[in-house]
Amino acid sequence: MDTIDTIEKHHLNPVTPGKTTIRYMKKRDITEILEIERQSFISPWTAPMFFESMSSPIYKNFVIERDSMVIGYIMLYSVLDEAHITNFAIRPSHRKKGYGTRLLSFAIDYYKKKGVTDYFLEVREKNHDAINLYRSFNFMVVGKRKRYYSDTNEDALIMHLSLR
Ligand SMILES: CC(C)(COP(=O)(O)OP(=O)(O)OC[C@H]1O[C@@H](n2cnc3c(N)ncnc32)[C@H](O)[C@@H]1OP(=O)(O)O)[C@@H](O)C(=O)NCCC(=O)NCCS
Repeated sequence: MDTIDTIEKHHLNPVTPGKTTIRYMKKRDITEILEIERQSFISPWTAPMFFESMSSPIYKNFVIERDSMVIGYIMLYSVLDEAHITNFAIRPSHRKKGYGTRLLSFAIDYYKKKGVTDYFLEVREKNHDAINLYRSFNFMVVGKRKRYYSDTNEDALIMHLSLR
């Protein structure tokens, strides 16, 4: 299966009209993804890191595309009834328009249908934009990894969403 139609959700923020699609990430997306990745993170993932996740059977990787341009991506792996979000970003020019919410909502719905009930992620404790978004989905802080990010010595918050 190549393409997955975006599921519209009544609670999502309105976005400007145009064609928005969520589909599986493909190798040919890598140039656009690396561009977004470098604009989004202090220690960006490299191409081999993306390719490794793309070839892993336990990973699902999605991109959100608008008028044929990749505007964001989310990467998750699952084990039994748990899913872990390992990478998630929206193109800076397209932030605060509801796309991050749409993509995260899509990924959770995707895994929910497969029986996944628990969702985990790590986030820099000063990444307020991301933390606010996760809180709006009812993710809760359940732990902290001290000095987890060696580039800035920042702590990581461990966040968990239970759909049980
Ligand atoms: C975190 C991230 C993915 C969020 O993506 P996003 O597309 O901006 O998310 P949304 O637009 O759905 O929501 C963000 C905010 O915009 C608001 N918003 C959404 N649509 C809006 C609109 N049409 N007009 C005004 N504000 C809007 C949301 O209510 C939300 O507000 P809040 O922060 O006060 O809760 C993005 O900031 C990003 O890529 N950051 C860098 C990478 C990163 O940190 N990733 C997470 C690692 S753990």
